Amino acid sequence: MTLPGHAFFRGRIVPYSEARVGVLTHGLNYGTGVFAGLRAYWNADEAELFLFRPKEHFQRFLESARLLDMTLPQSVDALTDALVELLRTELYREDCYVRPLAFYADESIGVRLHNLTPEVSIVAMPYGRYVENDESLHATISSWRRVDDTMIPPRGKIAGSYVNSAFAKTDAQRAGFDEAIVLNQDGHVSEASAANVFLIRKGTAITPPVSDNVLEGITRRSVMELLTRELGVPVVERSIDRTEITLCDELFFCGTGVQIAAVTRVDHRPIGSGRMGPVVSSLRALYFDVARGRRADYRSWCHPVYADAPAGAETPLRKRSTAS
Ligand SMILES: Cc1ncc(COP(=O)(O)O)c(C=O)c1O
Repeated sequence: MTLPGHAFFRGRIVPYSEARVGVLTHGLNYGTGVFAGLRAYWNADEAELFLFRPKEHFQRFLESARLLDMTLPQSVDALTDALVELLRTELYREDCYVRPLAFYADESIGVRLHNLTPEVSIVAMPYGRYVENDESLHATISSWRRVDDTMIPPRGKIAGSYVNSAFAKTDAQRAGFDEAIVLNQDGHVSEASAANVFLIRKGTAITPPVSDNVLEGITRRSVMELLTRELGVPVVERSIDRTEITLCDELFFCGTGVQIAAVTRVDHRPIGSGRMGPVVSSLRALYFDVARGRRADYRSWCHPVYADAPAGAETPLRKRSTAS
């Protein structure tokens, strides 16, 4: 992975090498941090980088912070502005991944959530696929259970709870699978290690409700709209039994990292025909068009990075015109 050149850290853009914390930092020791993960898609025809739904990501980021009793000084708009400034500094002209993080920064011993001071950082780096074979993933049902809302709230992206995801992912990969499907405490399908899950059965898409301990995924929400409005596939949110996986026609994971990934085998059984099915295939094509800003009707989901850059600032377009 290419490291970023810069970071938004302590309220300003600094070289990445200066964005450092001490080993006693509370968030590092106790997992008392929250994060977000966004993608920015490069559109070569327009020489523009489009952030996918940054307001929604930063809204959830602030809500995740609230779950940890953290009050951040920045608003959704201020965070979006900081990110745009960071990306303009990096002058990226390729697909990127963005990682905002808010963590309790005190260098002190004592596990708690009160009387602590949060700090925010944002970094962005060039990024392609999170999973290589996203048209034919082989998943396993994990022996780990998803954290419950009575343990660590799964609806937000809380740093410490990703140890749960890490157990599931590592065990799955060491056993030769690509990903894990994790069940919740009731034995219902919850999600993958870092992605939401959808089944397609008899023309209907089914996904677990948020109350089954899933992250309130932005891609999940976007996919629900695209399936219903554009592909005419009704979506039902309800608990999913483990054996429904065996009987479904198609299965996919969705999330900022995996984007839309077809799951074609679970444990040692094929899903449907054992190949990516028509709904997932159409959804992938549509999703990438939408995210890259190629669909006028979904342009509001795409936040341009360079469009309103101040006069005199270097942008991919301005650089290109001076070079030619
Ligand atoms: C546990 C978990 N579930 C689901 C998702 C998908 O969420 P989003 O679509 O907001 O990226 C993620 C993050 O990418 C995640 O970490």
